[in-house]
Amino acid sequence: MISVKNLYKDFKHDGKAQRILNDINVEFKKGERVAIIGPSGSGKSTFLRCLNRLEIPTSGEILFEGKSITDPKCNIDEIRQNIGMVFQHFNLFPHLTILQNITLAPVALKLYTKKNAEECALALLEKVGLKDKAHTYPVKLSGGQKQRVAIIRALIMNPKVILFDEPTSALDPEMIKEVIKVMNDIAKQGMTMIVVTHEMSFVREAATRVLFMDNGRILADETPEELFNNCQNVRVSRFLQKII
Ligand SMILES: Nc1ncnc2c1ncn2[C@@H]1O[C@H](COP(=O)(O)OP(=O)(O)OP(=O)(O)O)[C@@H](O)[C@H]1O
Ligand SMILES: [Mg+2]
Repeated sequence: MISVKNLYKDFKHDGKAQRILNDINVEFKKGERVAIIGPSGSGKSTFLRCLNRLEIPTSGEILFEGKSITDPKCNIDEIRQNIGMVFQHFNLFPHLTILQNITLAPVALKLYTKKNAEECALALLEKVGLKDKAHTYPVKLSGGQKQRVAIIRALIMNPKVILFDEPTSALDPEMIKEVIKVMNDIAKQGMTMIVVTHEMSFVREAATRVLFMDNGRILADETPEELFNNCQNVRVSRFLQKII
């Protein structure tokens, strides 16, 4: 579904180019649920952001269903509809209600009429126990509630894959549980997911594959069983000991 070839990303720091992604090569298949772990600054967010063109790679190619999304002429709206994203800090619009936050993009892109979008949004809100919040503003919601809304905002676009960038790392333990539950439910329905997370309850329950990133490279690509029971990579097992 997604094919990443020789991906490099450099950022300028004090006039000097710093290599953040260093020759990433990886394939993601339909239905896979990939967890990406690794130390802070290793390039996990930058990698995820390249996958839906929030970041433009310095070089290399990313194909989505055979079509280049690194080509400057590609249709960004189409990419963002197919490749949803959920952020650490939710990124809801503070001046819009929950319902407006969820329905804005699908109506603007003419995926739904306003009425249909609202019906669909309410049905999704009901599934995560937030239907009564439809007409309130994000400021009135807890972090866990906001993140569930952000997940619905991604889901309503009917994406083929959803990228999650540390969706629970800004949350308290109780709220982490409720968000992980929603993510595990989405996983059960067969959604393709690429998730930067150190939340091992997601990795154990839902991930089919775990990538370990360090210094802009993918150093390990394993199943969760291999990772937890039989990790051969010293660098990875040291990191795991620190976070578990
Ligand atoms: N827009 C940017 N401009 C300049 N440097 C950047 C930019 N975005 C990221 N970087 C740098 O790239 C490196 C990797 O950042 P990135 O956010 O991808 O790491 P990460 O693995 O997601 O880390 P964390 O676990 O802390 O979220 C960092 O050194 C960061 O300072
Ligand atoms: Mg990050």
